[in-house]
Amino acid sequence: MEETVQKLLVSRKGLLAADESTKTITKRFAALGLTSTPELNKKYREMLFTTPGVENYISGVILFDESVRQDLHKILESKRIIPGIKVDEGLMSFNDTPEQVTEGLETLDVRLKEYAQMGMKFAKWRGVFKITDMYPSKVFYDENLGRMAKYAKITQENGIVPIVEPEVLLEGNHTTTRCGETMDATLKILFEKLNTEGVDLKNLIVKTSMALPGPDSGVKALPLEVANATLRALNRSVPPEVPGIVFLSGGQTSDEATNNLNEIVKLKENSPWVLTFSFSRALQNEAMETWAGKDENTANAQQVFIKRLEMVSKAAKGEL
Ligand code: 13P
Repeated sequence: MEETVQKLLVSRKGLLAADESTKTITKRFAALGLTSTPELNKKYREMLFTTPGVENYISGVILFDESVRQDLHKILESKRIIPGIKVDEGLMSFNDTPEQVTEGLETLDVRLKEYAQMGMKFAKWRGVFKITDMYPSKVFYDENLGRMAKYAKITQENGIVPIVEPEVLLEGNHTTTRCGETMDATLKILFEKLNTEGVDLKNLIVKTSMALPGPDSGVKALPLEVANATLRALNRSVPPEVPGIVFLSGGQTSDEATNNLNEIVKLKENSPWVLTFSFSRALQNEAMETWAGKDENTANAQQVFIKRLEMVSKAAKGEL
């Protein structure tokens, strides 16, 4: 696990989240007029993974079960990119409230044993936290973060590095400050639960949102404001033993996510963790649109993809 953590967090590189569930990739493809099938999903992801030079910017890729069964991790292994796997089984309504709890603990141990045999070195579990006047609620925090901590424990017991992803959702009309405070509260409770479970914090990676104003607030935050609020939340809640924090893009445009990451890294001063990216949409959107399901667009899409990776890699050093 130590070796995996070190390799994932190596300077200038970050993670590509390519673990869209069947439902999510169906939605992303439908927006381009494409119908998702296992074959088309494979073709698309092959296009991404075979892009010449991706290994210079990507240390690890988070995969969905379908891709591992299609042997796509072998392309990654041939480029010394570390394969990981999304292991949560999505969201379920919680006690008839608008909050949604993450599923997948019952079968987790059995699935991890198979994934370990297939060469998966790290895993991801995502919980979502929606901000409204009433939410996140205390009972929901306890349940959803308790499950996330249990996942982390079981994953380490299988020799796999857990990424814990408590995603504070972008949607809503909240301020940047409220988002930062919610991230802080969420992460504090998560670390209490991780300690209760006896999770080894040195062999764990945190995946988090950035602190942003809700899109319905009508406010756009400058990178400096995002960076300040994000770092304030992380400094208050993430213990220094944690080796790395990776950011999701959460529905920001590719440029917004890249510029905000750059500013966060520039401002981090002597924060104890490695900070880098683990974007899905901000890395993929432009490449997916350029590809548009057509073989003849592959080379162009790969060029667009590598250009974005180059920028995001610079941002991960605060050098944009
Ligand atoms: P986005 O970067 O598109 O938010 O996706 C990251 C992710 O892995 C969400 O679970």
